[in-house]
Amino acid sequence: QLADESVGMEELLISPLRLEPHTSLPLPPVLFGSHAGARANSTGLDLTVPAMRDPLLAAYAAVQVPQVPEFDVKNIPDAYADCASSYQKWSKTGVTERAAILRRAADALQAQTPHFCALLVKEAFKTWGDAVAEVREAVDFLRYYADEAERIMAPIAMPGPTGESNELRLIARGVWVCISPWNFPLAIFAGQVAAALATGNTVLAKPAEQTPGVALEAVRLLHAAGVPADALQLLHGAGDTVGAALVAQPGVAGVVFTGSTQVAKIIHRALAAKDGPIVPLIAETGGINAMVVDSTALPEQVSDAVVQSAFRSAGQRCSALRLLCLHEQIADPVIAMIRGAAQELVAGDPADLATDVGPVIDREAFDGIQKHLLRLNSESKRLLAPAGIAQAATNSIANLIPPQAFEVPSIAAMQQEIFGPVLHIVRWSGDPLAVIEQINALGYGLTIGIQTRIDSRAQALARASHVGNVYINRNQIGAVVGVQPFGGEGLSGTGPKAGGPHYLARFCAEQTITVNT
Ligand code: SER
Repeated sequence: QLADESVGMEELLISPLRLEPHTSLPLPPVLFGSHAGARANSTGLDLTVPAMRDPLLAAYAAVQVPQVPEFDVKNIPDAYADCASSYQKWSKTGVTERAAILRRAADALQAQTPHFCALLVKEAFKTWGDAVAEVREAVDFLRYYADEAERIMAPIAMPGPTGESNELRLIARGVWVCISPWNFPLAIFAGQVAAALATGNTVLAKPAEQTPGVALEAVRLLHAAGVPADALQLLHGAGDTVGAALVAQPGVAGVVFTGSTQVAKIIHRALAAKDGPIVPLIAETGGINAMVVDSTALPEQVSDAVVQSAFRSAGQRCSALRLLCLHEQIADPVIAMIRGAAQELVAGDPADLATDVGPVIDREAFDGIQKHLLRLNSESKRLLAPAGIAQAATNSIANLIPPQAFEVPSIAAMQQEIFGPVLHIVRWSGDPLAVIEQINALGYGLTIGIQTRIDSRAQALARASHVGNVYINRNQIGAVVGVQPFGGEGLSGTGPKAGGPHYLARFCAEQTITVNT
């Protein structure tokens, strides 16, 4: 898919909620475009087109990631008090006005796409394709939640007997604590904050320690669009200091968290231990996401979906594929094709236009993945040696891990989410439902991929899967706001689907008013 020369940055991003074109067959063994002349990825971004490329490069040359001072935990009670007092006013601001402010922020963000992309590349080591996709997702969240708030905040007349009227309405809860991750430092940050604000809540936001600069610029943009300063405050710091103090702050009405299962449980316990009201937690965590491939699947389609799902974003998506379950009859040709496709990937400096796979976020992440790789190297069969990585890049780019794949003995051997470009492969035979049962038994429930040409089997496996998002015959990443509501169950989260029609209600209390007429 080659972009038209006349298509510029603005046009590329103009369409919110646009469906990502998922690849159809036949496919060359290339993913999101490391081949010269075929750099289009699923965003429609083509970095060979000057109108798309030049604004990004100019923004990168100019951008400086802002330094954000750590918030002093001693000041959290004051920040809360200001936020709670701002809630009194913001919650009474009409939903139409709140929605208008969020739409203004969306327009401003869209207009500043190159700047925010450059920030994402510099602070979060995103590739350009991922950066563009993330800005677009953030814009989509702002617009979608503005629309949704207007839809759901209108009171609903309930049926009742003569002589009585009944009405159900949603009401904001108060001050929400939003704790967001480094892997989508703009989109998930903006999504959490917009959901809380659209429904009339106010926000104390703690972004990931690794990416406060993106969050700071997003907050400035929201303030400039009209969100009152006290209604949205940024409190940068570590999870176990600022994050813990925010969760412990009396009066907090709710916590929305995206990050690890372990931290979600810590927050859950801390909230449960507090005196006073029961405080709701919305948690979206990780997953040991599998793809189940039967013997009827199309190898080219599987290979493309696997490489995108496992290696794009350096595997640092909670939706990313970790465990590929291949029917034994198809395993060898599919593995050969994955190897061919993965070897086309360029791992390197994320600012480099040719890079497909950038580094992982920091040294701690790198060390954890290396430890896992050492164990895999000694215990498993390596199916895909690190490839596509220039020696110069390994030496000069910190924390770069090239894509790789290993054959592991069993599904049950997968006990831990590895948040990087590492694919685990098992072979299976017999009943595919038994494979799904073993995957379910791992306890996570975020995404699953199913690849088969038998429609009834695809449906049966989808229904048997205990996951939030099922993807049939395509990749399993990149849920689109308003199109594929996203979120998991079990160890993967408390269930609400970001970008879906039921999400905003989770930020609200409900009140029924019955009047004897
Ligand atoms: N929402 C992202 C995706 O669908 C993951 O966080 O890939």
